[in-house]
Amino acid sequence: MGDEPVMATNDDASECKRGAVQLGYWTDDYISYFVRHVERRAPEINRGYYARVKGIENFIQKFISKAGSTAQILNFGSGFDTLYWKLKDEGVQIANYVEIDFPTVTAKKCYTIKRNKPLLQRIHDQDGEVKLSSTDLHAGNYHCIGVDIRNISQLEIKLRQAEVNFDRPTLFIAECVLVYIENECVNRLLTWISSKFKAGLFVNYEMCNMNDTFGEVMLGNLRVRGCNLAGIAHCKNLEMQKARFMNNGWLGSKAWDMVEIYYAISQSERHRIEKIEFLDEQELLIQLFQHYCICIGWLSQEFSELTCTDE
Ligand SMILES: C[S@@+](CC[C@H](N)C(=O)[O-])C[C@H]1O[C@@H](n2cnc3c(N)ncnc32)[C@H](O)[C@@H]1O
Repeated sequence: MGDEPVMATNDDASECKRGAVQLGYWTDDYISYFVRHVERRAPEINRGYYARVKGIENFIQKFISKAGSTAQILNFGSGFDTLYWKLKDEGVQIANYVEIDFPTVTAKKCYTIKRNKPLLQRIHDQDGEVKLSSTDLHAGNYHCIGVDIRNISQLEIKLRQAEVNFDRPTLFIAECVLVYIENECVNRLLTWISSKFKAGLFVNYEMCNMNDTFGEVMLGNLRVRGCNLAGIAHCKNLEMQKARFMNNGWLGSKAWDMVEIYYAISQSERHRIEKIEFLDEQELLIQLFQHYCICIGWLSQEFSELTCTDE
């Protein structure tokens, strides 16, 4: 099986995000440049994406407020993520932002950025050159690089081209990515990061509790689309998600299922989005939330107190 079905998961995620944005779940002024097509999804799916985006954003904000303007962000399997532009509009100062995906995906991203002034202007608002190839783009503190993250030596070369500084506090994001990668490759990546970077936080969003009947049905649906879930073994439960960091040289790790993440969002925000669409079956949403999680791993003590709540 080739990597095409894995790359296609980006189209699905981006379309779902655009659909939810259009309904008003959250604001994203840039997603429509990357995704033209919108199909209406079930309310449970929209709420699932809302919890995913808000849950990850919460950790990003906490990381940046601790790490300050020397922070770097490395977004693995970034697809058409628009976080860079959102942070820019919010005036958040960071040292470096690197998006990493297969070259086929980054080529589409680079092309879209080049073709759309509002995207290009925000990555290129300072003097300085824009270096652009068919798959990679470097401009100011924004970098988009095409590389298979299973290939560590290539990844390191590309990260150096993206001016990554291994001594700076670094946030690693993997939003629904590691599940598509063989366990030994994920272990190698996590070990490489923990040996190379001095200070950092990893935020990983993906499936969990996949051993029950609901999980098996979910897996069946994904496999029908021809997608190999090579890393599913680590999605059995929260303990296995955390163990992955601990076994690969990280200082500590915590994990929450999406039920916890969702109820950690402020009540007023939840009430706002719960009014957008009527849910027939609350039970189905809870079951979906029980099968996804956010797991964090840290390399330095300063990130050990982070939780999904606001305390
Ligand atoms: C489900 S999509 C998620 C995209 C984005 N993170 C989001 O949540 O909107 C998974 C992404 O991971 C990328 N990916 C999977 N395996 C990868 C690998 N070995 N190297 C680079 N990217 C990979 C895919 O190409 C795809 O863009």
